[in-house]
Amino acid sequence: MPTDSAALAKEAMIRCETLARFSEDTGSTRRTFLSPPMRECHREISAWLNSLGIPVKLDGAGNLRASCPGRDENAGRLLIGSHLDTVPNAGKYDGVLGVVLAVALLAALEGENLPIGIDVVGFSEEEGVRFGVPFIGSRALVGQLDDELLNRQDTRGVSVREAIRNFGLNDAIISEASLGDDVFGYLEFHIEQGPILESIGRPLGVVEAIAGQSRLELTFVGSANHAGTTPMHLRRDALVAAAEWIVGVERAAHTVSNMVATVGSIDAKPGAANVIAGEVKVTLDVRHAANELREKVVANLLREAEEIATKRGLTVKCNLQLNQRTVAMDPFLAGQIEEAMRKAGCEPHRMVSGAGHDAMILAEKIPAAMIFLRTPGGISHHPSEAVLIEDVAKAIECGLHLIKQIAGAAVSQTRRSRV
Ligand code: HGY
Ligand code: MN
Ligand code: MN
Repeated sequence: MPTDSAALAKEAMIRCETLARFSEDTGSTRRTFLSPPMRECHREISAWLNSLGIPVKLDGAGNLRASCPGRDENAGRLLIGSHLDTVPNAGKYDGVLGVVLAVALLAALEGENLPIGIDVVGFSEEEGVRFGVPFIGSRALVGQLDDELLNRQDTRGVSVREAIRNFGLNDAIISEASLGDDVFGYLEFHIEQGPILESIGRPLGVVEAIAGQSRLELTFVGSANHAGTTPMHLRRDALVAAAEWIVGVERAAHTVSNMVATVGSIDAKPGAANVIAGEVKVTLDVRHAANELREKVVANLLREAEEIATKRGLTVKCNLQLNQRTVAMDPFLAGQIEEAMRKAGCEPHRMVSGAGHDAMILAEKIPAAMIFLRTPGGISHHPSEAVLIEDVAKAIECGLHLIKQIAGAAVSQTRRSRV
């Protein structure tokens, strides 16, 4: 079992490669909520933890859960983890690196007999690919995996609840997935997925806040007709209407600094070259740290969609799937991370995350913090996604300093509370 950070980093990279092979697709990585390859992922990670003598279970929402007790049960527990699901054609590190690093830290701390307990979590669904809404796994830990979410169906008509049962889990025990009262904080290591750390030459970043995001689905409804016999002035073409609106989405995002807006998918029906599209579904993803600004841009875009539809004799329906407010990370933990980074020989850099993360859900219940690792080329949600082994080693060193600092703070907190 390696113990130094370089050896642990080498093992962590190999482990991310291994998990990336567990996929629904041949030749690329796609691992959505409780799909069969997720079982292989659970089996692999369980073997790593079991080799450290740490038992593993799956909770009612399909999250992988492990608990390594501390010597002082009054000192509480720190939860470390991230998500195990991926987007289609994913990279090797988004999500899984956070779970692999949690295991690496437990390996490095083996025999340390820390006062605090360390829990590990591998969330079942963060990306929102299968059911259109993200954070299904982490919502179970904060008591938000409600019937509305459990009844959502995927494109094959399978609900979240059925997917849980089909995986052999018991949705009746979802409430048992909730965080224990003694879990005092959540820490997530994650690749930055952007260009900033690389542009300033820093291996690690301290996340101060996670930008809010709106996710919507719009359906433009016109009338399908023959492409060869329908004159242009008599058409109610849903694909052209959607296209006009999509160009407006990009224009709107350019008018607000740091705003990003994306139409990531378009589904035209009936989808034949010689038929005018009668119905087109598009997704909209808008992100910005200022909630009011983000919501204003979304409202303007929905009004534009209505205007375009009316002008072209169509209708448009909108389904709001997520309105996630910006979430600040815990200031105390962020300060502790900065101190730990300096001890690991890294100059900290504070930043806002443009990507959403489970930490924004956990932060609703407990102090949450994130450590970013530099993303070479700033590429993510793509097979070229990468991370530098030396940055992984730095993250492990920073994590070990951080855990010992937090353990010390937890013990003194316990002493104060006993006085
Ligand atoms: O889409 C995101 O923000 C993240 O990668 N789930
Ligand atoms: Mn992602
Ligand atoms: Mn992620």
